Amino acid sequence: MGVLQGQVALITGSAGDLGNEMAVQLAREGALIVMWDVKPEAEATPQIERVLAESSTVTYRQIDVRDRSAVDKGIAALERLDIVCSNAGIVESSPFLEVTQENWQKHLDINLTGCFNVCQAAARKMVADKTQGRIILTSSWVGSIPWPEISSYIVSKAGVDMLTRSMARELARYGIRVNAIAPGIVKAGLAGRQLVEEPQYAARVAKVIPLGEPGTPVEIAQAVVYLASPQTAYMTGTILLLDGGCSLFQFDS
Ligand SMILES: NC(=O)c1ccc[n+]([C@@H]2O[C@H](COP(=O)([O-])OP(=O)(O)OC[C@H]3O[C@@H](n4cnc5c(N)ncnc54)[C@H](O)[C@@H]3O)[C@@H](O)[C@H]2O)c1
Repeated sequence: MGVLQGQVALITGSAGDLGNEMAVQLAREGALIVMWDVKPEAEATPQIERVLAESSTVTYRQIDVRDRSAVDKGIAALERLDIVCSNAGIVESSPFLEVTQENWQKHLDINLTGCFNVCQAAARKMVADKTQGRIILTSSWVGSIPWPEISSYIVSKAGVDMLTRSMARELARYGIRVNAIAPGIVKAGLAGRQLVEEPQYAARVAKVIPLGEPGTPVEIAQAVVYLASPQTAYMTGTILLLDGGCSLFQFDS
């Protein structure tokens, strides 16, 4: 029996690399998985199959986290909800002087307002159902570090950090725990693509990880399982950093 046996876990962005691994690891602990992503179901077949290999109870919905009405309907359709991973996100690099209003707004809409939509709708259901659930957001180590050429992204993640703490404060009275993970540079998903497509990004990354290597989706997803498990019942309002030491003061040697 896994530690999350029978609990329902919703993961947004679960057709992507980190979210999909979260779904796999939560399923391995016995959770029943609800996958949401903006991608159509047909495009997410390999990711759905990975989760199905761990659990026969998987549902997939094509939902854009910016669409509040779709989010509310999606939550209302769930019989129960114990764990929410608000994980969907994007990054589109641009030097600050060239950031367009569209780039700025898109990051805030998906990365921050998307979390607000999903987490508020989920929290309302948990309160109505008297479920002492877990809400886990995906922030980033750069939510508090001014990494160059992604200002819209890092500001959206700084917002995610404060949204986490704000919800933790107000939802504690209902027994709902709210925490975030802050991954460092992972060789998959958003950073995985930047490492391939942006030579200046790869050059910076080569110098900044004290532990020497990027993280893996499994390392990040296991922290999510930890935050969903009974072991962390006394934890709320924490931003759990998994960054290989990136945010420590950088020396030349
Ligand atoms: N990869 C990294 O190094 C890294 C580091 C720190 C934080 N993160 C965070 O991890 C999270 C997952 O990113 P990833 O690296 O797995 O990237 P990814 O691109 O593999 O996954 C992101 C998923 O979110 C989905 N998505 C995008 N916009 C959406 C929307 N409007 N509605 C619903 N779904 C939407 C995408 O379709 C995709 O499947 C993001 O919040 C990202 O900021 C990633």
